[in-house]
Amino acid sequence: MAVRSPVINVMAAAALKAARGLIRDFGEIEQLQVSVKGPGDFVSAADLKAERTLKAELSRARPGYGMLFEEEGAIEGSDKRHRWIVDPLDGTTNFLHGIPHFCISIALERDNEIVAAVVYEPTRDELYWAEKGAGAYLNDRRLRVSARRQLGNALIGTGMPFRDRGDKALYSAILNSVMTATSGVRRFGAAALDLAYLAAGRLDGFWEFGLQPWDIAAGILLVREAGGYVSDLSGGQTMMTSGDVLAANDHLHLPLAALIREAKRAPVDR
Ligand code: IPD
Ligand code: CA
Ligand code: CA
Repeated sequence: MAVRSPVINVMAAAALKAARGLIRDFGEIEQLQVSVKGPGDFVSAADLKAERTLKAELSRARPGYGMLFEEEGAIEGSDKRHRWIVDPLDGTTNFLHGIPHFCISIALERDNEIVAAVVYEPTRDELYWAEKGAGAYLNDRRLRVSARRQLGNALIGTGMPFRDRGDKALYSAILNSVMTATSGVRRFGAAALDLAYLAAGRLDGFWEFGLQPWDIAAGILLVREAGGYVSDLSGGQTMMTSGDVLAANDHLHLPLAALIREAKRAPVDR
């Protein structure tokens, strides 16, 4: 039986409380799809409400910790060693369209190192959590990344650039290589959950460029504690600053990195 530490209990309780509001609001979304105004403002309000709940719960349990929230940004704390990194709603576009694939992501950083993580998927009641050195869990089950060794059998998650974001020609070249070399690519729309699914062995690899710290902080620890490997695109550890993430089980990290590197080097028709 997995024993959750006090800090994981604090994070899980905050996530469950904020999730109750998100689920209620998600129930309204279907009606709003067909209204003239659309669900846009409603979703922004749901997002902000979840963030306020998380902020209140986390700061009540650990007064003085610094915070980095997606909506409110950085909040200095009197305790300079600790910082919460929080995405109150990852998968906003899914939420907006009534697609039940979104989550809350909470990470705790101590001395610039991620030491605890919670990713909660409300519609499936799945709580992913990890603590540095203590393993990763889904509810009470210990997690382990997949054991697949061949890229040809691997299912790879990704996030695609959209609107004015990212280099689409370069992304397309990489996607083309990964599509050809693997048994499939998935774009589920919530990066924190992509990393959690990788930790759970559902996906074998994941890559995305230009993510934000709150998208990945918790997911990185989940993958590592499940025995996987996370790096930036050059094999370095700049994920939290560059936003570029390449994660996979130990067998597939190098081959996936090589594939992406080659596609990046190949001339791209722009
Ligand atoms: C987004 C999701 C998505 C990723 C985007 C993120 P949001 O976060 O994680 O999967 O591709 O880059 O911005 O906006 O839903 O919190
Ligand atoms: Ca996000
Ligand atoms: Ca978000």
